[in-house]
Order: sequence, then structure tokens, then C-alpha cells
Amino acid sequence: MATVDCVLKLGGSALTHKSQLETLRAESLRGAAALVHKLHGAGQRRCIIVHGAGSFGHFQAKEHGIASGTSARSADDDNLRCGLCLTRLSVTKLNHLVTEELVSHGIPAVGISPFGTWKTSCKNVIQTGIDTVKDVLDSGYVPVLHGDCALDSEQHCCILSGDKIIEVLAKKFSPRRVVFLTDVSGIYSCPPDTPGARLVDSIVVGPDGNMEPPVLSSVLPHDTTGGVSLKLQTAVNIVSQSHGTIPVLICKLDSEAAERACLTGELKEGEGTTFSFAES
Ligand code: ADP
Ligand code: IPE
Repeated sequence: MATVDCVLKLGGSALTHKSQLETLRAESLRGAAALVHKLHGAGQRRCIIVHGAGSFGHFQAKEHGIASGTSARSADDDNLRCGLCLTRLSVTKLNHLVTEELVSHGIPAVGISPFGTWKTSCKNVIQTGIDTVKDVLDSGYVPVLHGDCALDSEQHCCILSGDKIIEVLAKKFSPRRVVFLTDVSGIYSCPPDTPGARLVDSIVVGPDGNMEPPVLSSVLPHDTTGGVSLKLQTAVNIVSQSHGTIPVLICKLDSEAAERACLTGELKEGEGTTFSFAES
């Protein structure tokens, strides 16, 4: 199978104003599209893009309890279905905007929604739409997936984060690198708005999945997928499962570092966070 150059997460916090309902950061989206255009121009044509929800989806999901599905209510609840539909309308609206911006930058981007093909059981992925992603890539298009609602065999539905989707994609495609672009410069020793927070340049993942140095994190109340702690877990899982052969980098979307991370898989000191595997 031809190599995938980059799996790129465009974080919902970077693409949207996360605390204002359905508010796009249009400038950041343009920057993201320009970045993908550069990657394409540099010959990195086999990229998979996954974006988050930000303020398109999290509010509706939170309001209607989509992440816990029927585990917290009656199994035959039309309000739950209605909430799922509203959440999907919101995330697919963002997917349209992201795909549209990429296409207007000359990228052959095609939006692919996970709902219906990706399925979970107790929130664990049990079925994926990987074959579709592969076909789309092999035909010369750039797949644009997104965090979405998923049907769940035990609790009717749940929220499938873009970060979890990326973990599955990394396992299947063994890309050259996985890059998370977010609204802060990388992973900090503690929440970035806390006094004394320092950017962590490098995190070493041990054989048992522990991180060195350890970090403290916080999450917004309406975030339904766990915020940065899920991203950390995803990074740890990718590095552990690939024994460090897939580098994982986290940096700011609106930055020069983002371009370097995607093009070379490397970051300079102070530009972001790189995950590596501990040598035994
Ligand atoms: P995205 O939507 O970009 O995928 P998240 O919103 O899930 O990302 O996580 C990024 C947010 O996590 C940042 O806005 C940041 O304020 C918050 N955060 C909390 N703790 C940390 C930490 N230790 N390091 C980095 N970010 C953190
Ligand atoms: C959330 O996806 C999907 C929803 C339907 C709410 P993510 O977990 O990938 O979104 P962000 O990046 O945190 O906004």
C-alpha cells in the first residue's frame, strides 16, 4: 500500500471559537487550507484530514446527552434521536465549511462522515469506514473526516472524537507522521492559562504507556470528548502501538511550526510537543 504522508487533525478549538455556538475562526480555517495546499505542492498528496467539532456539535451533544446515549435514560427516547440529528447537522455544517475552503484552495478534498459506517460498543470502535477512506485516497482525493456521532450497540449512540478516529487511521495506514493542530502551542506542564505553565517540548512514552514528564490538564464544561486528555491518550497509544515508528506532533494551527511539523515531522525547541517512544 502506498504510504500516507500525514494524518492531520484540525482541532475544533483552533477552527472555531469553542465557547460561542457555531462560530468559525475563518482566518484559521484559511490558514489550514493554505497549509494543506503547501503540503500538496511539496508532493505530500496522500494526506488524511480529520477535524474536530469545537462550537459546531459539542453544545448540542452536551445538551442532549449524546455521549452517554441510553446508558443514562430510556432506550426509546425520541429526544435522544432528535439531539443526535441536531449534533450531526452542526458537525456536518462545519465539515462542509472545511471541505469548501480546501476545495477553494485547489485541494481535491472530499468530506466523509463517520456516522453509519463507524460503529461502537460501549464507546469502543467495533467497525470502521477505513475501506472507504482508502478508496478515496487511492483515487487521488483528500479525505476530510470529522468527529461525529456514532451508533453504539450497547447505548444506542455516543460521540466518536476525531482523536479516536485518528488512532484507528494511524494503526491502519502507518502514516509518516500524525500532526495535531490546536489553539495553543502544544502540551503544557499544566493548563496553559495556569501561572507557571511551561510548554513541554518532548514527551517520552514508556513501554507501559506512561508519559515523561507527566502533565496536568483541564477541560471545558461543554466538551463532550474529554479535551486535551483524550488527545494525550491518543498520542500515547499511537506511539506505543507503533513502537515509536509513527512520530506524533502537537502544535498551534496558526504558526510556522505547523508547516514544519507537517512537512518534516520535526519541531524546534519552543515550537510544540513531540512524542517519542522510550528505548528499552
Ligand atoms: P482541539 O479541539 O484542538 O482538538 P482540545 O480543545 O481538545 O483541542 O484541547 C486543547 C485545549 O486544551 C486548549 O485550548 C487548552 O487550553 C486546553 N488544555 C488544558 N490543559 C492543557 C495542557 N496541559 N496542555 C495543553 N492544552 C491544555
Ligand atoms: C467531537 O469531535 C465530535 C462531536 C460531535 C461533538 P472532537 O472531539 O474531535 O472535537 P474537538 O476537536 O474536541 O472540538
